[in-house]
Amino acid sequence: MSHNFTSQSGDGLHVAIIMDGNGRWATRRGLPRVAGHRAGVAALKRIVEHAPDVGIRALTVYAFSADNWARPAGEVQSLFWLMRAFLRLETERLRQKSVRMQIIGRRDRIPAAALREVNRSEFVTAAGRRLLFRVAIDYSARDAIARAASSSPAQEASVSAARSAMHHELTREVGEVDLLIRTGGEKRLSDFLLWESAYAELYFTDCMWPDFSPAELDAALAEFRHRERRFGAVPTAAVAAGGSR
Ligand code: FPP
Repeated sequence: MSHNFTSQSGDGLHVAIIMDGNGRWATRRGLPRVAGHRAGVAALKRIVEHAPDVGIRALTVYAFSADNWARPAGEVQSLFWLMRAFLRLETERLRQKSVRMQIIGRRDRIPAAALREVNRSEFVTAAGRRLLFRVAIDYSARDAIARAASSSPAQEASVSAARSAMHHELTREVGEVDLLIRTGGEKRLSDFLLWESAYAELYFTDCMWPDFSPAELDAALAEFRHRERRFGAVPTAAVAAGGSR
């Protein structure tokens, strides 16, 4: 059996996206950076609509990293304003499309008005089954891993028991990442889903996030389907030929 297009959970893919390049997209057009973020929200809407039709059952996007607080206050404010507006305007459509929205990351530093909208959207879309749409806000993978480690029952009997408890904590409901996409030309993970992406296929594109279209997503998925996923094992052809002995 081929491992092509294998998801680690078996029932559709978990795709993660680092939506980079909004600022440069805007600057190249002589626009303020916030115009890039606004165009980025429009791109995100199109991707969320398209994802369930192409075999994606979970989509996790990086909207605001724990390090993004270092950006100018005006840009931070605009980002939260845009998230709030997105949730206010789109929640009903998400519900109709059976999309469940959830956020990951710290909740205690999110501006109150945005947090209210997040809570409402999570509540309203809770029954969605077609797509789990996770938005990482004030997120750091290292923090998430450290939190999972400190919340798992202390003194696990062995490293493997501790590892399996943490794995459960970090991947429950959503599973591991199958394909991680980063737009905007940089090739790094920037503290995003480090544990969950241990065996993810990585796809980097120079396309700036506001230009990332459903066709670009299809291209990333086509490349993903071409790659053989071995999860640390030997190539499937070698197994078929008895090469694993
Ligand atoms: C990176 O581009 C992008 C971000 C830091 C924000 C991404 C956020 C959105 C697309 C909007 C989120 C909204 C919702 C509804 C979840 P950059 O500013 O770092 O671009 P640059 O590298 O070109 O400067």
